[in-house]
Amino acid sequence: MDNRELIRSALEAMKKAYTPYSDYKVGAALLTKSGKVYQGCNIENAAYTPTNCAERTAFFRAVFDGEREFDRICVVGGKHGEPVDYAAPCGVCRQVMMEFCDPETFRIILAVDEDHYSEYLLKELLPLGFGPGNLA
Ligand code: THU
Repeated sequence: MDNRELIRSALEAMKKAYTPYSDYKVGAALLTKSGKVYQGCNIENAAYTPTNCAERTAFFRAVFDGEREFDRICVVGGKHGEPVDYAAPCGVCRQVMMEFCDPETFRIILAVDEDHYSEYLLKELLPLGFGPGNLA
């Protein structure tokens, strides 16, 4: 699975977004170390705070399926479902990544389209992250 395929998968996931309040649609495609892809979209709520981001939808679907080892995630998003710049993960989603991923190796691909993307390590987006290792 190359980055272009993962970006296509995130763009496809974005179409499922449920966003009656913001109309900001986000799609995520999470690649496990075993090569499976879990898609996620944001799911909004009339009470606002129960809204679930696309990244967390993807992680929770994967963890429910028993997956615990992740290689990278691609995130796309934009108003009306039209990405024009990067949709960077919110702080809560970065913290969820920290729970299941090694910040030194887990990569986050932020894309506008298949030809325009950047790759970051989790440790770059969440420096000095607090994770399971701190409680060991
Ligand atoms: N959103 C995500 O899905 N992922 C993020 O990391 C940032 C924000 C969603 C939540 C909400 O539905 C919309 O984008 C606007 O905040």
